Amino acid sequence: MSDGSIDLNDARAKAYATPLEQFNLIDPVLFKNDAHWPYFERLRKEDPVHYTAESEEGPYWNVTKYNDIMAVDTNHEVFSSEPAITVFDPTDDFQLPMFIAMDPPKHDVQRKTVSPIVSPANLHMLEPLIRERACKILDGLPIGEEFDWVDRVSIELTTQMLATLFDFPWEDRRKLTFWSDVATAGPDTGILGTTDPDEHEERRKATLFECVDYFLRLWNERVDQPPKGDLISMLAHGEATKNMDRMEYLGNLILLIVGGNDTTRNTISGSVYALNKNPDQYAKLKANPALIPSMVSETIRWQTPLAYMRRTATRDVELGGKTIKKGDKVLMWYVSGNRDDEVIENPNDYIIDREQPRRHLSFGFGIHRCVGNRLAELQLKIIWEEILKRFPTIEVQAEPERVLSSFVKGYQELRVIIPTRN
Ligand code: HEM
Repeated sequence: MSDGSIDLNDARAKAYATPLEQFNLIDPVLFKNDAHWPYFERLRKEDPVHYTAESEEGPYWNVTKYNDIMAVDTNHEVFSSEPAITVFDPTDDFQLPMFIAMDPPKHDVQRKTVSPIVSPANLHMLEPLIRERACKILDGLPIGEEFDWVDRVSIELTTQMLATLFDFPWEDRRKLTFWSDVATAGPDTGILGTTDPDEHEERRKATLFECVDYFLRLWNERVDQPPKGDLISMLAHGEATKNMDRMEYLGNLILLIVGGNDTTRNTISGSVYALNKNPDQYAKLKANPALIPSMVSETIRWQTPLAYMRRTATRDVELGGKTIKKGDKVLMWYVSGNRDDEVIENPNDYIIDREQPRRHLSFGFGIHRCVGNRLAELQLKIIWEEILKRFPTIEVQAEPERVLSSFVKGYQELRVIIPTRN
């Protein structure tokens, strides 16, 4: 495996030479180049609750230490999830209400409506299906030939899972992947054939309207049928959700599509990458498959698939000796808190049998803690059980291509070869 195109020493020198007032960590290029680490390291040491006064999205606070992030995440009265959980404010003509960006009481009732899909009983029921689909994907992979793991495995597995949760027409399932990507991608990605911001926004809206129209057809079919266990039926029959308008339905769909898609996808890719970067850990896993669950949690910490969540202060409040003003944007940088050495020992190391592997911030905390966390862990566990049964090794061929986003932290492409089967 090549040692990568990013020179960490250069990134570190640059981060330490840049005046703190010029730090703008929402710059997606930092993440695309994997160059964000030293900036966060410096903030944790020198200014853990840091104010960025100027950016294209206006001023915002950076909360970078584990315990401060916990304090913000568990205090929803002072740190509201409205109007948005990314640094971007919704535009007036395109509001997408979704319960991740709502406060109680509305948040709580909507969350309760979809929670049964990921109850322990439902997960138990889903397990054989996830396994069957994982086996099929793995059995179809080429041997001794280079391919893109992201596309062939990570995207395919999570898309199939999502199609299952929605009971979505199977042949159209890649539409879910596309909608998920469009929902989070900025104009720079060119995903909609243009990099012009206005043109991108127009095409983005049109695509998301196509998405909701497709789902409205499914809603209309299911609302007239008796309630079933899929998410659309649950939303169509749920007391708290059956009267949602079109945009609220769209918002909650996007939440479930993005929530269940990019994050798990990037953890699957991240696990292959991390194990290749740390061959001693890969050897440990092969020797002892009972370590799969803790490897999964360690990967979720190490990868941190969502780099931050945003809150908005509802009143003036002190944090880390700073005064955050009512209305200020506050970014909880999970990606930094997960590398805080005051809470996690040797946080930059990938250690699959560390003590307390679930002690990380990647799923958030408090009333918005990830609904799908056990489902994500289950998918990862199953795929690795089946990988270890089949393949002695998966060899990463080059540094991955990373996603251009400071919110979704993940991989565009990961070239691998599987040399042989067991
Ligand atoms: C490794 C995979 C995953 C990661 C890292 C992840 C991460 C997160 C994070 C950070 C939050 C916000 C927590 C907060 O604000 O405190 C969240 C919320 C949420 N996640 Fe996940 N997630 C993952 C998988 C999933 C899956 C598979 C689903 C779908 C079934 C899902 C559905 C949701 C939903 C619906 C919310 C909103 C919860 C609320 O507002 O009450 N996530 N997730």
